[in-house]
Amino acid sequence: MILEGYDWFRGLHILSFIAWMAGLLYLPRLFVYHCGAEADGELDATLKLQERRLLKLIMNPAMISTWIFGLLLVWSNAERAGGWEIFLSWAWAAKFILVFIMTGLHHLYALRFKHFEAGTNDWPHKRYRILNEMPFLAAIFIVLIATVALK
Ligand code: HEM
Repeated sequence: MILEGYDWFRGLHILSFIAWMAGLLYLPRLFVYHCGAEADGELDATLKLQERRLLKLIMNPAMISTWIFGLLLVWSNAERAGGWEIFLSWAWAAKFILVFIMTGLHHLYALRFKHFEAGTNDWPHKRYRILNEMPFLAAIFIVLIATVALK
């Protein structure tokens, strides 16, 4: 069963990380605008709603499904290769390190959202502008490793 599903897992893996990336690029942008919003004002309330929906309805499910279909791909590749040795390479090590960094960024954003929700954000907008660049930087390496180094 695990081998027959390979192409479905790959397609759903790609769709999942596209949605995850979209959220990872958009949420810190909302945080940048939120830094300029008056506490308890209309913009503050609107941004809190947008951030909560983006995180809960898109980013969390997309991160989980990226991991699920990624791990199903790991399993089907190991089945096909007759063992896990194929994952003992610098390319896979680099991909997994970058994916853990991306997952760490996701949790940092979720933590910062809690601060905005509680009105206790003390980070300047510049820091969110820098954070905004990191997911795409990681994605450049992840996608090139997955499509060039691992093929
Ligand atoms: C979250 C944990 C992840 C795991 C466990 C994982 C694992 C995998 C595995 C096993 C493959 C199949 C490789 C093959 O059969 O050649 C794959 C393909 C791929 N992954 Fe991931 N991945 C993860 C996250 C990501 C992320 C975050 C991105 C992009 C930002 C990404 C981009 C890709 C790409 C572009 C491919 C190639 C698809 C193709 O062959 O057309 N992966 N991944």
